Amino acid sequence: MSKITLSVIKADVGGFVGHSSMHPNLITKAIQILDEHKSKGLLVDFHVSHCGDDLELIMSHRLGDDSEEIHKMAWDLFVECTNVAKELKLYGAGQDLLADAFSGNVKGMGPGCAEMTIEERKSEPVIIFAADKTSPGAWNLPLYKMFADPFNTIGLVIDPSMHEGFTFDVLDIFENKTVKLNSPEDIYDLLCLIGASEHYIIKGIYKKSGEIAAATSTQKLNLMAGRYVGKDDPVMIIRCQSGLPAVGEVLEPFAMPHMVAGWMRGSHWGPLMPVSVEDANPTRFDGPPRVIALGFQITNGTFIGPRDMFADPSYDLARQQTNEVANYIRLHGPFEPQRLPLSDMEYTTLPGVLKKLKDRFK
Ligand code: 13P
Ligand code: 13P
Ligand code: MG
Ligand code: MG
Repeated sequence: MSKITLSVIKADVGGFVGHSSMHPNLITKAIQILDEHKSKGLLVDFHVSHCGDDLELIMSHRLGDDSEEIHKMAWDLFVECTNVAKELKLYGAGQDLLADAFSGNVKGMGPGCAEMTIEERKSEPVIIFAADKTSPGAWNLPLYKMFADPFNTIGLVIDPSMHEGFTFDVLDIFENKTVKLNSPEDIYDLLCLIGASEHYIIKGIYKKSGEIAAATSTQKLNLMAGRYVGKDDPVMIIRCQSGLPAVGEVLEPFAMPHMVAGWMRGSHWGPLMPVSVEDANPTRFDGPPRVIALGFQITNGTFIGPRDMFADPSYDLARQQTNEVANYIRLHGPFEPQRLPLSDMEYTTLPGVLKKLKDRFK
């Protein structure tokens, strides 16, 4: 059985209206381009979606992780969609394309990317998550719950094929170094790091046999640009069932709308609301932050689906709680903890204001 690579590559190439959603012409353009690449044989299959103003390309192919051909194709697609966005004068056209020309890999150039190469199992259920108005650290808490918390994932307790736990690959985004920590053995060390979700980001999760279970996008746009250009709205790929968390165990953490960084001007904390694709249009104060979950059965590399996993009344209470928490935290206005701490505001437009005040400090 040959290997298949799942590549989820995303970029904000222009918002409609403001940063709230996606113009349908961008989706149409992306589908048209990916269709051409599928008929030429570069892609096995694809699905195009959006979460808020972020264009999500979900692709399968045989070229492995970090394929220059696939990354260049995605980059060129984002450039073409940016041209459509410019014609329509959509907001922030080309926002996430930080470089002028493609240089080998979209990582480090603005777009977010999560990839994994797998040996397709007898049945391969996969869930692709995408979020808007937040940052890659948003996945830390739900990933911990899925793969390390028996109060979330009963499979860790009762399924012998999960009982030995998982290995977490954690990235220090400031030092650009990774550390592998095992659960359950190292969970206190793991939590020590990933609880600081704007500093340490879970990049991947593996079975102890080495088989990949989860991959996230870890690109921090503002760190790359050194200034505020928008938030690095993240994506992730999770494989489910048969020695991995069940679909319901993978979705369960999102029943609690945890606080994430990235609301309004990328400068505020807010609760993460699980929504259907139809409702993935952050509007109130440009939010609250949203997450969508697209379920697929991967069958000979093709995407059977998607099932819109959060289009389910069992998440109604989480959505209501999101609105209640959003109301409360909004009352803080420009004060922390609604506003991000100063260290994170460095990558916003705040330094410009501080500079203006410099000479008034005595
Ligand atoms: P089934 O018995 O329907 O396969 O379900 C197993 C399971 O893991 C449900 O969470
Ligand atoms: P995006 O990162 O989704 O473009 O949002 C930017 C913003 O400033 C929203 O208020
Ligand atoms: Mg935007
Ligand atoms: Mg966005």
